[in-house]
Amino acid sequence: MGQEPPPPTEAVALLTGHTGTPTAIQLLSDRRGSRVWKVQGPGGAVAVKANNPDGDNTHEKAAEMAQEDDHLLHLTAAGAISPDYRVSAGMWAGGRWLAVNWIDGSPLWQALALARGPEGDRATVQPWLADIARSWTEHLARMHAVGWAHADVQPTNTLVTRDGRAAVIDYALACGPDDRRPVPYRGALTHTTAPEIATAILSTPADTHIQAHPAADIWSLGASLFWCWTGHRPVPYDETTDRLEKLAAIARGTTAALREVRPWPFPAFEDTVTACLAPDPSDRPTAKELTTAW
Ligand SMILES: Nc1ncnc2c1ncn2[C@@H]1O[C@H](COP(=O)(O)OP(=O)(O)O)[C@@H](O)[C@H]1O
Ligand SMILES: [Mg+2]
Repeated sequence: MGQEPPPPTEAVALLTGHTGTPTAIQLLSDRRGSRVWKVQGPGGAVAVKANNPDGDNTHEKAAEMAQEDDHLLHLTAAGAISPDYRVSAGMWAGGRWLAVNWIDGSPLWQALALARGPEGDRATVQPWLADIARSWTEHLARMHAVGWAHADVQPTNTLVTRDGRAAVIDYALACGPDDRRPVPYRGALTHTTAPEIATAILSTPADTHIQAHPAADIWSLGASLFWCWTGHRPVPYDETTDRLEKLAAIARGTTAALREVRPWPFPAFEDTVTACLAPDPSDRPTAKELTTAW
């Protein structure tokens, strides 16, 4: 068993001024060339992201880290995200790092475990689920109002806090109006990829940037809620199918009927999720409309 990699010392040194000398450091995730740690200090906790210097794609991941910082600076200046969210960013021997404020919450899949079961059908769960969806759409509406798409709306990038509100994290792939990004956007998680993005991935060369628009976030939001509430992804395919075939199935625009797979009836919520999954982006509700729809 190897030891867990520590966060960049440059990051820890800088953060000491923000949260105090760390009292606990925990590696939370180490996947696809990027790592995230929780760094807890006496004055608060932060999430530190850094590229894995030994990964095959370390240069791209370092560029993505710098790109995420750039996005956070733009979105904060535009008033689309809280000025408290971005903490600091910089370089280290292995590449780039970024620190954001810690959000005490559970990823959407875990948060919706109760709602997914038959016991979810109780008086308190419906408004709780609707509040999560509403607070999520409020975050997206703020980004969309300034011309940005998050472009990676999916269950692991959505944390549900104890007060039953959704928080949106991971702005690495966001697409903005004058975004001079170093890394072209080629979609994110397959299962939450909107049909128009799937079509673009399948019909353009791998180095071509695909500009994601707000309506793509709406499909991804509907797909995430469909998936985490029912336990089924909206476009059925075998897990072993390769990514391009999955994308081709999504691009065809047909989704499973939510009514047939949901754990218990919630007609208004089902209608709104289904509207988000309209194959034509112009048929989907906007985030602003959704803030009063759940
Ligand atoms: N600000 C944060 N607060 C709490 N947990 C976080 C925060 N940022 C990241 N995480 C956790 O780390 C995971 C990976 O972070 P993320 O920014 O999504 O990076 P990646 O590019 O690896 O997807 C998230 O899914 C979440 O569980
Ligand atoms: Mg993520």
